[in-house]
Amino acid sequence: MTTCPADALIFFGATGDLAYKKIFPALQAMVKRGHLDAPVIGVAKAGWNLDQLRARAKDSLEKHGGLDPEAFEKLMGLLRYVDGDYQAPETFVALRKELKDAHCPAHYLAIPPVLFETVVKQLAQSNCANGARVIVEKPFGHDLASAQELNQVLLSVFDESAIFRIDHYLGKRPVNNLLAFRFANTFVEAFWNRTYIKSVEITMAEEFGVQGRGAFYDNVGAIRDVVQNHLFQVLSNLAMEPPVRLDSDSVRDEKVKVLKAISPIEEANLVRGQFRGYCKEPGVAKNSQTETFAALKLEISSWRWKGVPFYIRAGKSLPITCTEIFAKFHKPPTAIPDRALRENYVRLRLGPEVTIAMGMMSLAADAEGMSLRAGEMVASHSPHPDEMDAYERVLGAAMVGDSSLFAREDYVEEAWRIVEPVLKQNTPVYQYEPNTWGPGEVDRVSPPEGWHNPESATEEFAPAEQAA
Ligand code: BG6
Repeated sequence: MTTCPADALIFFGATGDLAYKKIFPALQAMVKRGHLDAPVIGVAKAGWNLDQLRARAKDSLEKHGGLDPEAFEKLMGLLRYVDGDYQAPETFVALRKELKDAHCPAHYLAIPPVLFETVVKQLAQSNCANGARVIVEKPFGHDLASAQELNQVLLSVFDESAIFRIDHYLGKRPVNNLLAFRFANTFVEAFWNRTYIKSVEITMAEEFGVQGRGAFYDNVGAIRDVVQNHLFQVLSNLAMEPPVRLDSDSVRDEKVKVLKAISPIEEANLVRGQFRGYCKEPGVAKNSQTETFAALKLEISSWRWKGVPFYIRAGKSLPITCTEIFAKFHKPPTAIPDRALRENYVRLRLGPEVTIAMGMMSLAADAEGMSLRAGEMVASHSPHPDEMDAYERVLGAAMVGDSSLFAREDYVEEAWRIVEPVLKQNTPVYQYEPNTWGPGEVDRVSPPEGWHNPESATEEFAPAEQAA
């Protein structure tokens, strides 16, 4: 069991894209908050020296989040660098030397998954793994078999409690806020089930394309990149039963149960799309069949959710950037004519801003009789300016040995079990125009009344038809 706070942070892939965009900003923020005071050792094969890494860190911060002179100076004082090939034992001899008397180091593998096994074995052989923990970037494996293989490699060196599988959505406050919404409000439990909820939609839309990450993305695609991990975490938070205790394993037990109640996705319940122009992106195969858009329908066969369709949709080059949940209620068994009613709903926007909204009917103010209008009751806030970024939160948690914000082995394997069969079927990939909501074929896995598109969410609903 790993409980000691880490006394060194080693990050492999120090000169890479993730370090540049996410890790340096997170490290500076941790230093600023007084959460990081241990040596930070970057490792990469770039032929660089420490000064070059420092210059890269400076550039990273200037472009991503801003440089804080005091915290930056302190971070530079903690930063070390080991340059070398991950295959070469000398790299790890140099790392061992740089670790000095650290007895609880945290090794963060911000490198392509193909290198995980090599690095883990080298860490063990060089005694760098003694008392250590390992933080592994997603995607965790490429399918069920490779995830199981990777787990075996990690477990041959580290205890499960010392393995931290990153899914940065678990570090997002709005994602955790779903649990507060459900379990800190008495009234929610009364309707959050199959008796009242008709369907649930989860949309993760991104306005941008692959942003220079074509070589990575083309091997992955939308399902592996964000559905199997980020959106299944959102789904688990929405669908899980109240945990009996709040420790990380009790919470993770409940999440695994959600996935266990989902059958593998069938071909008929998935539509894959690719935005026009994707194959011209650098690093992308000219005839690529990788999906940049996926929409799917699944069911959770649990006491709470059986019969309620869950629709999940994620894509690049869509009309806006927004992640939103839209849970629709059945209409009430009222004498008011059906045509005058719109379904009530809960709208939970996870980003870019945070919104909890409930859609409901009331009498229209500007008409007589039973003229109804649909309106929203909104509880919303912008993120606090000082709020932690997801990467800062997950790295901070890994440093203190808190597993709550990380995916457990059984969870990751269950998630692969659900998506893997359909991934292997090579279902068709339909083209869609950038800046649209995906290919027309998506209708096949759409709610009967069509998807709720987040861009229209803040607009007031048109008045419903007059009832009497
Ligand atoms: C990453 C994916 O894990 O999450 C990216 O690899 C995606 O493709 C990103 O854009 C989205 O994260 P966020 O925090 O911007 O919602």
